[in-house]
Amino acid sequence: MNILVTGGAGYIGSHTVILLLQAGYRVIVYDNFCNASKESISRVKKIAGKEIITVEGDIRDKVQLRRLFSSHKIDAVIHFAGLKAVGESVEEPLRYYDNNVCGTVALCEVMAEHQCKSIIFSSSATVYGDPHTTPITEDFPTSATNPYGRSKLFIEEILRDLYVSDNTWKIVLLRYFNPVGAHPSGLIGEDPNGIPNNLMPFITQTAVGQRSCLSVFGDDYDTPDGTGVRDYIHVMDLANGHVKALVKLPEFNKVMTINLGTGTGYSVLDMVKAFEKASGREVPYCIAPRRAGDIAQCYADPGYAKEILGWEAGKGIDEMCADSWRWQEKNPNGYRK
Ligand code: NAD
Ligand code: UFG
Repeated sequence: MNILVTGGAGYIGSHTVILLLQAGYRVIVYDNFCNASKESISRVKKIAGKEIITVEGDIRDKVQLRRLFSSHKIDAVIHFAGLKAVGESVEEPLRYYDNNVCGTVALCEVMAEHQCKSIIFSSSATVYGDPHTTPITEDFPTSATNPYGRSKLFIEEILRDLYVSDNTWKIVLLRYFNPVGAHPSGLIGEDPNGIPNNLMPFITQTAVGQRSCLSVFGDDYDTPDGTGVRDYIHVMDLANGHVKALVKLPEFNKVMTINLGTGTGYSVLDMVKAFEKASGREVPYCIAPRRAGDIAQCYADPGYAKEILGWEAGKGIDEMCADSWRWQEKNPNGYRK
């Protein structure tokens, strides 16, 4: 089977491509490299020992997508391509809606023209807004507090409308919690541009000496130690969730919305301690004011993923930290030489 992976050069996409290749799928990566390096593709090939067709292009470019679908028979699409920085989305909402929403519409149009109607979409736990309680099940109310989150909600709704119009589509919406970690080889991992927004890359860059100190955003939340609690999930577990969804896709006769999380919440200070233990490095931190838009706690009920996909996360916090650290230590500048 030929699988088109949009955004396949990025963080989650590159890890998923490895598992797809190992499971025997043929992979075509389609990426405009706006937030990725070609080096990640070379390393994925090295890890998997297999070839990947890579096409540099934008999901909004229907001419190029048509060319791609005409020259390859594509059986299903795993759609990671998108912009994902919350703060940037507040400053540049139109860019986010154009890239994420219009890009997805263009992709689906071309898929339909070529009778390829199977898609797995990268949604996010951000669509739950500030949940009234935890753990979060898929039927919780949704809301958005920023254009990034709203783009995910819009796309979910667009894909549901598409299914109503033509129920031969097979659609899975995967709502990821907080992906961390890296491939155990240390060859690929998360490589954020500039100052990281997310906790784990900030911790690893502090441990490697690129940042002097981690700011812990708030210690007065209603959580066990006062710092924010999240459901951190190893990126290889997350990647495996996509392979499981792909296998089950033909059986689905409704749009499937599935949480991918571990079901366990850890605080910022839990993560700092676990990381220090895994790396043997100290992570200096100071308590800073709360970050605007943050919520106290967010973790999944992963029961539906287990029931429907037979999937559950297997890697714990120690492995997440050890693998994040291996990647950072071997590649202090990410993919840049
Ligand atoms: P990433 O930025 O590493 O990967 C996204 C990839 O898409 C990049 O390689 C980028 O170059 C590519 N891309 C962006 N716009 C494109 C376009 N118009 N055309 C072609 N390629 C384009 O991000 P990631 O962390 O791997 O996230 C993958 C997906 O998962 C995104 O849709 C993201 O919103 C979603 N997600 C991520 C997280 C997270 O915390 N990492 C959480 C929930 C959901
Ligand atoms: N945090 C700090 N210091 C930092 C960075 C983060 O204390 O330098 C704290 C945050 O306040 C929060 C926790 O660490 O309590 C996790 O923050 P992240 O920025 O890593 O993750 P978020 O849960 O805020 O958001 C992430 C993605 C969103 C996605 C969401 C759910 O950035 O895009 O997970 O999947 F929607």
